[in-house]
Amino acid sequence: VERTPSDPQTVHETDSAVLNYGRPGGAPAQSFHAATPPAVKAVVQRNRGTAIRITVGFDFGTHSTKVLYRKHGDTVTRILYLDEPCKEYPSFASPSLVRLDNDGRLWFGSETLLRNSGHLHRSLKVRLLGPDRESSLEPFPPGPTPQFLVAAYLAWAFHRVRDKLQAEFGAHALRMNLAAPMNHVQNERLRDVYLHIVQTAWQATFGECPLAVDQGVRLDAVQRPFTRLLDSKLVPESERHFEVLPETIAPIVSMSFNPRMAPGFYLIVDMGGGTTEISVNMVGKSKKGQNVHCYFDDLIHLGGNDFAALAVKEASAAAAGRLRLLDRTCAAIRKVWYGGYEKEKEAQRTIRARWKDLYVLLSGGGTRNKEVADRIRQCPPQRYIFVADPCKYVVGRYEPANIDPGLHQVSDVDLSLLSVAHGLALEAQRWPELLKPVEVQAFDPAPRAERPEAYWYVGGK
Ligand SMILES: Nc1ncnc2c1ncn2[C@@H]1O[C@H](COP(=O)(O)OP(=O)(O)OP(=O)(O)O)[C@@H](O)[C@H]1O
Ligand SMILES: [Mg+2]
Repeated sequence: VERTPSDPQTVHETDSAVLNYGRPGGAPAQSFHAATPPAVKAVVQRNRGTAIRITVGFDFGTHSTKVLYRKHGDTVTRILYLDEPCKEYPSFASPSLVRLDNDGRLWFGSETLLRNSGHLHRSLKVRLLGPDRESSLEPFPPGPTPQFLVAAYLAWAFHRVRDKLQAEFGAHALRMNLAAPMNHVQNERLRDVYLHIVQTAWQATFGECPLAVDQGVRLDAVQRPFTRLLDSKLVPESERHFEVLPETIAPIVSMSFNPRMAPGFYLIVDMGGGTTEISVNMVGKSKKGQNVHCYFDDLIHLGGNDFAALAVKEASAAAAGRLRLLDRTCAAIRKVWYGGYEKEKEAQRTIRARWKDLYVLLSGGGTRNKEVADRIRQCPPQRYIFVADPCKYVVGRYEPANIDPGLHQVSDVDLSLLSVAHGLALEAQRWPELLKPVEVQAFDPAPRAERPEAYWYVGGK
């Protein structure tokens, strides 16, 4: 099979920017003038010669938010502790929660759990995906929209990122990568929704008229300017300092920079609170170094929160519900594995035989659920094809390499929650590039139009 990864140098690199905060420690707490049109131009000075460039991998999860950053040139990626440590969450995770209290004030992250007045908004990310297919969410209350609440949470978090990096590095160039729950065939509607939200939070933090979005900020002080920002046009891609990338691809990028990966086929299962992303990949070593081919990726709108929502049901209904969720998870794993295998099923025996062995890498909090992990262990997807042949099937936990936890203690299990943020913290030019549909004439007699989807190639170090 002849594959020609395109030259990684051709991947566009978006300009960096030096962010001027006006004074050490962050932007002045300035109020936004609702009368003026929302600024769509960040306060930046283009300066390609800036000494310090930082890429932030910002994983806004349904359940928790994780942030890593990497100074260009460094091999380690560092954890940015966004929030106060919180019970039942790893020290680096901020609960993705927003509370609107009865006094019309907004609270974010762990602070929301210290209060009980008003409404606590959970699973906000899932609200952006459209109808709740599992019906595990409560009806959304009247008041601010999920888009506004997510933008406000992100603005609060971006302020913290800005202040922490400013305190550590002084002036620097910053790039922020976020992920949306989509596979490599990007869901343009969802990406657009995300981009508007991220742009709003970015403007409120790094824009010409930053807004103070601190704990306890009054809803009426931010709702109007945020709504205007959410409605404003996206700045051209070349001027953006943030990007929204597919959530299935981020762990693959992380994996491709992991020296511990032995060559072979790997299936990544990242089950978070609201979605499960799955991809099947081949890690190969060549003279040039390590490379990863993603053969197939997909996601389902199912996660740990759907399991948790069953807890309130009567025992037999809960057991039946769990079984259904486990079946759906395994069916999705089979589908992804087969989607990859299908691309080589007409190939010669030695190529097909490589698909007999599979390593599964579990990632995300949802796979900490023993029932989920056990069920995945019992369902080797290749068994449906190689019924009688010896097959190898190893299920383990994914651990991103070279993460510096700073002064905190972080367990290996917790590290596996950082696979998305880790991939996102790798700078844009190292991100995978979409190849043209695979040229496998010898094994693919189908006409060009019927050939499988293109797949991603991730270059080595
Ligand atoms: N020990 C555990 N047992 C069972 N479930 C757990 C455990 N720890 C975490 N979870 C579940 O994992 C989920 C959160 O995982 P994670 O932080 O990876 O999600 P997320 O990244 O916020 O969500 P998503 O990726 O879907 O947007 C929650 O549903 C939580 O209930
Ligand atoms: Mg996640």
